Amino acid sequence: MLLECDPGAEHNLGMKTRSRWLLLVLLVLATVIQAAEPVAPPQPLDLPGLHNVFQIGEQLYSGSGPESDAAFQALAKLGIKTVLSVDGATPDVERARRHGLRYVHVPIGYDSVPRGAALQIAQAVRELPQPIYIHCHHGKHRGPAAAAIARLCQDERCQVDDALRIMQQAGTDPRYAGLFRSVREFRRPSEQELQQLAGPLPAAVVAQGVKQQMVAIDHAWSELQQIRAAGWKTPTDHPDLVPQQVSLQLVESFRELHRLPLDKPRDATYREWCAASLQSAEQLDLAVRTSAMTNVLEERYRVVLEQCSRCHTKYRD
Ligand code: HEC
Repeated sequence: MLLECDPGAEHNLGMKTRSRWLLLVLLVLATVIQAAEPVAPPQPLDLPGLHNVFQIGEQLYSGSGPESDAAFQALAKLGIKTVLSVDGATPDVERARRHGLRYVHVPIGYDSVPRGAALQIAQAVRELPQPIYIHCHHGKHRGPAAAAIARLCQDERCQVDDALRIMQQAGTDPRYAGLFRSVREFRRPSEQELQQLAGPLPAAVVAQGVKQQMVAIDHAWSELQQIRAAGWKTPTDHPDLVPQQVSLQLVESFRELHRLPLDKPRDATYREWCAASLQSAEQLDLAVRTSAMTNVLEERYRVVLEQCSRCHTKYRD
């Protein structure tokens, strides 16, 4: 009996060892496969009231700003829990709440995603209920840049190229060089950096005033003046001033001015002049982008400049 049992017991033991080995090999294989699995590219989605919507991760979406009940309803139906706006406009927190959604507001410009804002995005991805929907105004430039950073924070497997693909797929204009640079140079925050963040994330930051927007306009304008002084080319001592990037920043800062709620009572002419200066900036940008003749550039530059002065004479000075 004993003799018969022993080989069996040994055989059992052998089986056990072997299956343990098998399990271990399978586990290692699964980990390797998971690590090698490519990060899924962004998937376009069609949602009512929204455009440029993409699913960019299991728990992450990006697209345009919701401006109607239909849009908020579509987000709620999709299962979204948190809406993260990087737009300058103050979000409609109340309407979102009626649809069971909470808002977080981290306004950024078209020139970069500053480190402070990137850390807030990291904090949102880490702490807030998911899935998260990230938006700017049209879901094309600032939103996808923020979403790329969110994705890098959320998923260790996500590489810089995967993150940049989010922007390319959303159609981010390569002339927003600062947005691309912010994603390319983004470092995942350390535990310590995240812990140093002050308090909870704001649901709504008060929109910038005309004064702050003028500072942005003035910044782009003075860069353009340097480009003009260099014969409408990148000044040799300022390789970062690329004409068609700077003229686009000027357009965007006039567009934001145009979108601002009025902080003082103003008449219809003021509104008209805001619209007109946006149009002139667009005309100037077009001339820069298409390398128009110097006399065309000069003429369009002069039109914008005249609009600065006429508006200041009536509404500022
Ligand atoms: C449609 C009207 C309008 C146009 C166009 C306009 N501005 Fe202004 N700007 C204002 C008003 C109004 C203020 C005063 C804002 C305040 O102090 O509340 C102002 C203020 C400023 C300031 C002072 C900001 C500060 O720190 O107090 C600067 C600089 C400026 N504008 C630059 C420009 C430049 C450069 C242009 C053209 C490229 C321009 N603006 C075009 C309306 C305009």
